[in-house]
Amino acid sequence: MISIIPKPLKVTEGKGVFKYTFATKVGGDFPQTKKQLVSIFSKSGIEATITSCSADINFVTDSSIEEEGYLLEVAENSITIKASDEAGAFYSLQTLRQLCKVDILTNVEEVEIPCCVIYDKPRFKRRAFMLDVARHFSTMDTIKECLNMMALNKLNVFHWHLTDDQGWRIEIKKYPLLTKQGAVRKGTQLAGNKMEDKMYGEGLYYTQEDIKEIVSYAKDLHIEVMPEIDMPGHLVAAINCYPELSCEGNQIDVSTHWGILDDIGCVGGDKLMPFVKDIIDEIVELFPYGYFHIGGDEVPKKKWKVCPKCGAKIKELGLKDEEELQGWFNNEILQYLKTKNKNMIGWNEILKATKLSDETIIQWWIHSAKASGVDKWLAKGNKVILTPEPYLYMDHCYDMKDLKKYYSVDLDTMGLSMDYESQVLGIEAPLWTEYVRCKEKLQFNIYPRMQALGEINWTSKENKNFADFETRLPLQMKIMDSLNIKYANREAYLVRGFKNWGRASKAWLNWSKNQNHEFEKYCK
Ligand code: ACM
Ligand code: ZN
Repeated sequence: MISIIPKPLKVTEGKGVFKYTFATKVGGDFPQTKKQLVSIFSKSGIEATITSCSADINFVTDSSIEEEGYLLEVAENSITIKASDEAGAFYSLQTLRQLCKVDILTNVEEVEIPCCVIYDKPRFKRRAFMLDVARHFSTMDTIKECLNMMALNKLNVFHWHLTDDQGWRIEIKKYPLLTKQGAVRKGTQLAGNKMEDKMYGEGLYYTQEDIKEIVSYAKDLHIEVMPEIDMPGHLVAAINCYPELSCEGNQIDVSTHWGILDDIGCVGGDKLMPFVKDIIDEIVELFPYGYFHIGGDEVPKKKWKVCPKCGAKIKELGLKDEEELQGWFNNEILQYLKTKNKNMIGWNEILKATKLSDETIIQWWIHSAKASGVDKWLAKGNKVILTPEPYLYMDHCYDMKDLKKYYSVDLDTMGLSMDYESQVLGIEAPLWTEYVRCKEKLQFNIYPRMQALGEINWTSKENKNFADFETRLPLQMKIMDSLNIKYANREAYLVRGFKNWGRASKAWLNWSKNQNHEFEKYCK
């Protein structure tokens, strides 16, 4: 059986196989993908040869194929791959490797690739996964593993949530305190209100060289890396270093607790805007793509309401209220980002400001389309990213969001008219890491959700079918076995015996500290 995730647009199965051996020559266009093909197949033990002329496996540039799409024709004597861009060629390789299961072969003399014709292209443009590294840090190796799995599943945007109340994790040369002091908290909230009174975070940040390394690694996998610097809320780690950024100017600790904090940046004062612009100046040099995420979620206005500076600013600008003040701030940042050729993305709470620039891209995560204002936003012709929290949040365990529910996400199931499809840039799922304290739990929460995420982003609506998707999962599971990735198995992702294992329950927490191996039977 042909087992490919995400399911391609059109598959015609043939008879016979192409045999990939030491004698195989890989030629034609797309030099980077040719190298990647030979490298992936070499893990099976076979080293093929690359040429620039026509060969057994031949890559051809064909401008009639759509962006990121490909036409893959496997015959007994040859393989032809047509694409209009290197990304399309790269995606044909992700299909090819699953077609012949090469990732799980070792020490073989030949790899049999079943004859077929596959025509394929993506449904959405921005197919994204988000990782929060502020609450708990991920190593470079863990991030690279996520990127590898994203590429296999044809995801193309890595949204990097780099800063939050509990830690600042990206080096900013002009403000070294941010990572020296702002990366460190005095303790960590455990299940319920229990605390672990242990310093966390010293040295746990990415240098600008680390960032460049990840951006470059991802680029080879046709993945764009997009930074998020959350503002003006979720900024406590920065306020800890530079108290003058807040309304009251008091020194406050990097947060040891989760949730929404009243301490936010003071938009009325004159310190926050230059600070944010300095941060943007450094960050845009590291991320060579067209998007910048400013967060903007969960900004309680309690402090602004009593801050003389914020009050004066609202008056000076003739604004209605504090929501409009955040809207003004966002529009200023949007204009600044435009001078750097960046589009601005923010979480959907920023729609509370009525005068928000239509150029903003809204990431919809909370409340209904009506209550969030997303319906009106779309009616104006504006753009959104779908991240429905009740379905896609990977920090929630499978008893809250089983894989079938996860897979069901689409415009209509989210209450949107299908007419808006062209305004939806893509579907994105985040992993927030408040309770993700080790790599195994990170893997367990992400996989096989990432496979479903790939499919709901890439595969046409007509081709989406959960039962069919499940029949294709075992190959990816075997690939993950070979990589020692502890994914949730079927018993776990369909929630048998997972009652009362909320994301912060004792069972999860103990497991994450490797004290309780009750979970082991639910994952590989
Ligand atoms: C969010 O989950 N606060 C975007
Ligand atoms: Zn203020």
